[in-house]
Amino acid sequence: MSKNAEALAAEIRARAGAEPPKLGLILGSGLGHLAEAVEGVAIPYADLPGFPHAGVSGHNPKLVIGRLEGTRVAVFGGRAHYYESGRADAMRLPLEVLKALGADTLIATNAAGSLHPEMPTGELMLLSDHINFSGLNPLIGEPTDARFVPMTAAYDPALRAALKAAATAEGIGLHEGVYAWYSGPSFETPAEIRAIRTLGADAVGMSTVPEVILARFLGLRVAALSTITNLAAGLGTEAISHEHTKAMAPLGAAKLERLLRRHLQKME
Ligand code: HPA
Repeated sequence: MSKNAEALAAEIRARAGAEPPKLGLILGSGLGHLAEAVEGVAIPYADLPGFPHAGVSGHNPKLVIGRLEGTRVAVFGGRAHYYESGRADAMRLPLEVLKALGADTLIATNAAGSLHPEMPTGELMLLSDHINFSGLNPLIGEPTDARFVPMTAAYDPALRAALKAAATAEGIGLHEGVYAWYSGPSFETPAEIRAIRTLGADAVGMSTVPEVILARFLGLRVAALSTITNLAAGLGTEAISHEHTKAMAPLGAAKLERLLRRHLQKME
């Protein structure tokens, strides 16, 4: 854990109270409004040196520490993507801070393209696993042996079961599948999508995987959820664009919020 993370955690505690968050929540494109649902203290990333400037529209660059359904949470209203800086470890400091604050769990959310017509826009997918199609890794350059992170059960089976139970209790259909990380920022070609599908992916997006690797490195329990905003390139008739992603994310976001609220009610 860097000294920087400890210092930032101390500053955050001074502003938001010492009670540790149980869980961190990273909000994906078009999902930033969930940060507003938390009763607590909002700290703009601009006040936290080293936090990403979250230059992607559709994100809400602030950290909110407070309660959602009675559970103490740390909500990251925006994330840094590899394609903004060329750094796969751009979320390392925020995740180190989450760990330093005392959280033991990370739930990452994202907007993603679907590789299955039967999982259309507006549906939710729980990640069972991922394919790092980019070949990049946020731990390249990490000098300690801790860099050899096992990724066999990266997406925590018990946490996944709890999220599935929450979805069932809310009457929300929840797909489960493999997410492929594509570096972006250009979208995939239809040939790349056919390749990814052949490799076993069910959804594709430009985030989450580096955060999951970093979170496992830090010993956090991890789950991740995708909101499907389009059928991936070549599979549908929708025009794929960032505008479309932002416009479609709210379709799944309302369900995602209900699912997360239900899950948090049970976390004590
Ligand atoms: N590809 C990559 N990232 C995405 C997509 C997609 O089709 N949709 C939303 N984010």
